[in-house]
Amino acid sequence: MKKACVIGWPIAHSRSPLIHNYWLAKYGLEGLYERRAVSPQELPEFLQNLAGHGYIGCNVTIPHKEAALQYIHHIDDVVRRTGSLNTVYLVGSQTHATSTDGEGFYQNLIATVPGLSLQGKRAILLGAGGAAKAIIERLLRAEIAEIAVINRTPERIQELKASFGSAISILQPDHFVTESKSAALLVNATSQGMTGQPRLDIDLSALPSESVVADLVYVPLETDLLKAAKARGLRTVGGLGMLLHQAVNGFEKWFGVRPEVTPELYNRVAADIEKEPRS
Ligand code: ATR
Repeated sequence: MKKACVIGWPIAHSRSPLIHNYWLAKYGLEGLYERRAVSPQELPEFLQNLAGHGYIGCNVTIPHKEAALQYIHHIDDVVRRTGSLNTVYLVGSQTHATSTDGEGFYQNLIATVPGLSLQGKRAILLGAGGAAKAIIERLLRAEIAEIAVINRTPERIQELKASFGSAISILQPDHFVTESKSAALLVNATSQGMTGQPRLDIDLSALPSESVVADLVYVPLETDLLKAAKARGLRTVGGLGMLLHQAVNGFEKWFGVRPEVTPELYNRVAADIEKEPRS
């Protein structure tokens, strides 16, 4: 039986098994997707001996997304550009890795806002961590013209500029309202607004009426940011869709079927979040 897993430290809360085991059952495939707690000390041996542990591949989550790079035989361009990975698969005896976070964000965005074109447009991004990097990498491939970044620690935006070039600009929080007048997309890639985390207070009044507001936070399913955007009549994109869409490519590589993100899957995972609102 083909087996995949998600590795992290800790890992007890991952919702990935819910998603992948749903698809395995739906497509009638013999397989299993498990959670595996792997400590930083165990990480090298685990990745170098994935097949020996009984797996054809794995997802990689916090805190291993960057550290894992050095133990993989072949990383793709997305991993090279973002410096992190979340999906590992075997080709023969060699490990290959990709990062599907940016693609998951983008596929969810265009599935939620059909016909959206970002070519030549401007986005404002809140956050400069790993998730922000994944989004920048994908938005630049969608030929977005500029991404203005706000971050609590401005030095991290300098790092983004060094990695991704002149399309990245630094936005001072005081200038947000004025600068938001020309934004086609606003994305929250910080943990603000997540249950148990500080609130995200932001004035959406100047965003154009045709702009789109996306939040990566999915606990709660509808954040205050999304509520405020909806109240203004703006189109909104929630974070749970990204979690579901980022799982598609891994499942296809491991189990050979390209799975669909359906309302039924969304509702299952949403019900789990509502039952136990942990991130
Ligand atoms: P991830 O992989 O989810 O992006 P990360 O790399 O730790 O996680 O990045 C978290 C992001 O949320 C960062 O942009 C962080 O800001 P700093 O770079 O200043 O740390 C942001 N963030 C987290 N908590 C925050 C808070 N209370 N206020 C403002 N920004 C916050």
